[in-house]
Amino acid sequence: MRILHVAAEIYPLVKTGGLADVVAALPAALVKRGLDVRILLPGLPGILNGMTGLEPVFQIGPVFGAAVVTLLRGRLPDSGLSAYVIDAPFLFRREGNTYVGPDGRDWSDNHRRFGLLGWVAAHLACGELDAAWRPDVIHAHDWHAGLAPLYIAQNPGLKTATVFTVHNLAFQGRFSNDCLAELALPVGQLTPPGIEFHGGISFMKAGLVYANRITTVSPTYAREVRTAEFGYGLEGVLRDRGTDLSGILNGVDYAVWNPADPDIASAYRADDLAGKLACKLALQSELGLSSEAAGPLFVVVSRLFVQKGMDLLLAALPELIGEGAQLAVLGTGDDDLETGFRRAAAVNPEQVAVFVGYDEAMAHRFIAGGDVLLVPSRFEPCGLTQLYALRYGTLPLVRRVGGLADTVIDASAENLAADRATGFVFADAASQAIGKRIREACALYRDRRAWQQVQRRAMLQDFSWDDSAAHYESLYRSL
Ligand code: ADP
Ligand code: GLC
Repeated sequence: MRILHVAAEIYPLVKTGGLADVVAALPAALVKRGLDVRILLPGLPGILNGMTGLEPVFQIGPVFGAAVVTLLRGRLPDSGLSAYVIDAPFLFRREGNTYVGPDGRDWSDNHRRFGLLGWVAAHLACGELDAAWRPDVIHAHDWHAGLAPLYIAQNPGLKTATVFTVHNLAFQGRFSNDCLAELALPVGQLTPPGIEFHGGISFMKAGLVYANRITTVSPTYAREVRTAEFGYGLEGVLRDRGTDLSGILNGVDYAVWNPADPDIASAYRADDLAGKLACKLALQSELGLSSEAAGPLFVVVSRLFVQKGMDLLLAALPELIGEGAQLAVLGTGDDDLETGFRRAAAVNPEQVAVFVGYDEAMAHRFIAGGDVLLVPSRFEPCGLTQLYALRYGTLPLVRRVGGLADTVIDASAENLAADRATGFVFADAASQAIGKRIREACALYRDRRAWQQVQRRAMLQDFSWDDSAAHYESLYRSL
């Protein structure tokens, strides 16, 4: 079975979040199961520079406002997987963020940039661009690839099956109606059964309406998105597609994320945690934090946005400080939140440190060196950092939403007694609720035996891609 994954980012070449990790790891896991998998990516500088053996496959010519568009094919680093790259210099060869220009606003031609991604996917499905390899299934990720199922559906003779995975419903790819013509779409699409959404068009909706199957990245999120609280206005569409909608939990690439990884100060294992203390001391010293703190070291590795509950955490900070604990934050995002954490660090330099920026190796050092990883999200389609943290014996403290609810087992008295607990879970999106769970985590930390028992249980959790890849494979086969 031939599967083409279509996505805007891929670790380690271009990454703004967990999507990149998934797009790197899931295809590799499917290949291990014997499937013939390729990936289609936009020709962003990081992708063109990071791939090997890129050769032209087809001269597409002028489309979507670009004078020259060439389809290339080459190999990805590490996995060696085969990937097509759309080289459209005018649209993609730009430094900086994939989605946002230097002025902090979305690139004004994003509809053409990502429309082209979906359009090329559909033409690969037809066999027009590479007669030697036609996919049986197109698997499109997030709004960036949302037009692929629509362009395929417009060609009634085409039998290619489509799967659309929602990684985050908050980002929808919404554009004005005027864009329709530039995307070569009929005006008939400007209706509620089509891709019309609040007087404009939505790439996310195109994926939801036209894909044969829809998945979300965790089972709980698949239920949540049918409600107004989590559906971002698309809950009705998702309910209508209910029988075709399911949740498949993301996995972890344990070759990249494990407590013997090359980025951390000292390797360790579940049955020998000495190295973990060395990682903590190294992190404290790197960040100028005291090594004498009485309480645990809480860490955050996150985009700093309201989605991630970072405002709630800032409001709960006095409780953490009062417990004699420490907080280390690695992230970028909203100015207000960055400033808030910077201010807290200036006031309590021994207890709070913040590094504003994006640094992959540092993320490993934070996750290995922390005692607790905080993920107090308002919503979380899956969340990967809590899965990474579990493997490092860094106990996740999370809100009970989406993939966080599916992956962390609360250290309640009952779960502790049964040796099931792997972290701390709270329910309400309120600073008091986080504060309370932070205090309780500090109390458990003082009981070294109980703490280490939870650490060991956490490290034994298996969220490798094997299971999830098997679920995707059976979904493809059902089509
Ligand atoms: P999301 O995709 O919503 O941002 P995930 O938990 O799925 O959330 O994935 C986040 C990914 O981005 C993880 O691989 C995490 O390590 C990484 N990450 C987030 N912020 C940073 C940062 N400032 N520096 C390095 N890595 C980061
Ligand atoms: C999105 C979600 C995150 C998920 C990631 C990978 O960015 O916000 O929860 O883990 O995609 O699927």
